[in-house]
Amino acid sequence: ESGRRGLVIGNWKMNMSIEEAALLFEGMKGEAPACDVAVCPPFPLLYPVKVMLAQFQDQIVLGAQNMHWADQGAHTGEVSASMLKELDCRYVILGHSERRQAGETDEEVNLKVKQALSEGLQPVLCVGETKEEREQGRSGEVVISQLHAGLDGVENVNSVVVAYEPVWAIGTGLAATPEQAQDVHRTIRQTLTNQFGDAAARVPLLYGGSVKADNALSLAVMDDIDGALVGGASLIAVEFKGVIDGF
Ligand code: G3P
Repeated sequence: ESGRRGLVIGNWKMNMSIEEAALLFEGMKGEAPACDVAVCPPFPLLYPVKVMLAQFQDQIVLGAQNMHWADQGAHTGEVSASMLKELDCRYVILGHSERRQAGETDEEVNLKVKQALSEGLQPVLCVGETKEEREQGRSGEVVISQLHAGLDGVENVNSVVVAYEPVWAIGTGLAATPEQAQDVHRTIRQTLTNQFGDAAARVPLLYGGSVKADNALSLAVMDDIDGALVGGASLIAVEFKGVIDGF
């Protein structure tokens, strides 16, 4: 690692009730984490979780799982960046593979990244190849193309976070090996350097896909793995704490 502070983000996906969230945080009390930590609850839980997080005094901050690219207006069922900002969200996950599989395009992801940045949110841009693409040896190519598209027209990379989530490793218990992940993270760092120069060295690169307490450290020691985007394990206090301790 190179002076970049660790960052662990929990993506709750479509899980958790208000009561379960309170129990999770009960189990997470204790020593201040050595890295930055955020949780991304579903929209209806953002406000109650914001209230619960007050006890952690900014040691755990809030993020969202998606947003619309427009400012406001006739977009039934959507939420805007400024709404998330008003609830003290710092991060917003964009382009998660579960959303891409549901039809979200690179162009939409790009509009959302630019809108998030203009409202002062930090986009967590997700990229990653499918099992088939990996078997065809196309992991690097896919990730580079998602990065180019997602960051098209972005001038300042300072507030951007990139998450590498190989689709085949998500929710499967089959995490990428630290070497496989580092390989792609190096490609991501290089791609960012080509577009943004030295500033790319400060962009946090998160790995996501079956990260748990017992594999976090082996990922964290790799040069370009600065943190984790955690699904299932972020719902269980002892697991999430274990991941945080790894970074
Ligand atoms: O965004 C995090 C995610 O897709 C990884 O999920 O359950 O494999 O940690 P999981």
